[in-house]
Amino acid sequence: MTARSDQRRGRFVTLEGGEGVGKSTNLAFVEARLRAAGVEVVTTREPGGTPLAEEIRDLLLALRDEPMAPLTELLLVFAARAQHLDQVIRPALARGAWVLCDRFTDATYAYQGGGRGLDLQTITVLESLVQDELQPDLTLYLDLSLEAAEARMADRERDRFEREARPFFERVRERYLARAAGAPRFRIIDAGDPLPVVQGRIAEALDGFLAGEGAP
Ligand code: TMP
Repeated sequence: MTARSDQRRGRFVTLEGGEGVGKSTNLAFVEARLRAAGVEVVTTREPGGTPLAEEIRDLLLALRDEPMAPLTELLLVFAARAQHLDQVIRPALARGAWVLCDRFTDATYAYQGGGRGLDLQTITVLESLVQDELQPDLTLYLDLSLEAAEARMADRERDRFEREARPFFERVRERYLARAAGAPRFRIIDAGDPLPVVQGRIAEALDGFLAGEGAP
């Protein structure tokens, strides 16, 4: 679904990036900037975004002795997404609100595809089943070297994903960058500079998008 095919539908904006790139801080910045432009924004996250989907998130992030099979992980991610789309994302877009989502299916391609090595075709099948034609209109990908990300993560308590070893995150980053190179909806934001510089880049990307959309 392109933005212009339905002028009343809200726009779907996603924020992506590896661990430690400053996603939370910048999510609040994007939200404020969209609001200042007069846009009604529903801010949400994946996995999660509804009470049930947040329970699935807890299952995904919890540390446990039993290893989670990659396919189980993939199906849980898409189960949470189906619920989130049904309860939050589609209704908001349909009434004309914009949805700002902290991660979406690009994270699945990066983490379950790149990180876990799951087959691309398997992900594509589930994507099409769960989302139908829905894709983000704009994706801001915060890119940071693994050295810098690790330094920022140094004293954080780590969940099940954050405990993965470095090669996992190298594959995640590679997959994100490959996806970003292949779709015009992506803006790659270099997140390696001080926050005001990074936010200047985000503002520029957002302003360009808003101008193109004639928003709100
Ligand atoms: P967060 O770091 O943005 O809170 O996300 C929680 C974790 O979930 C993060 O390590 C990435 C992971 N994740 C996936 O593995 N696949 C997905 O599709 C999504 C949305 C997140």
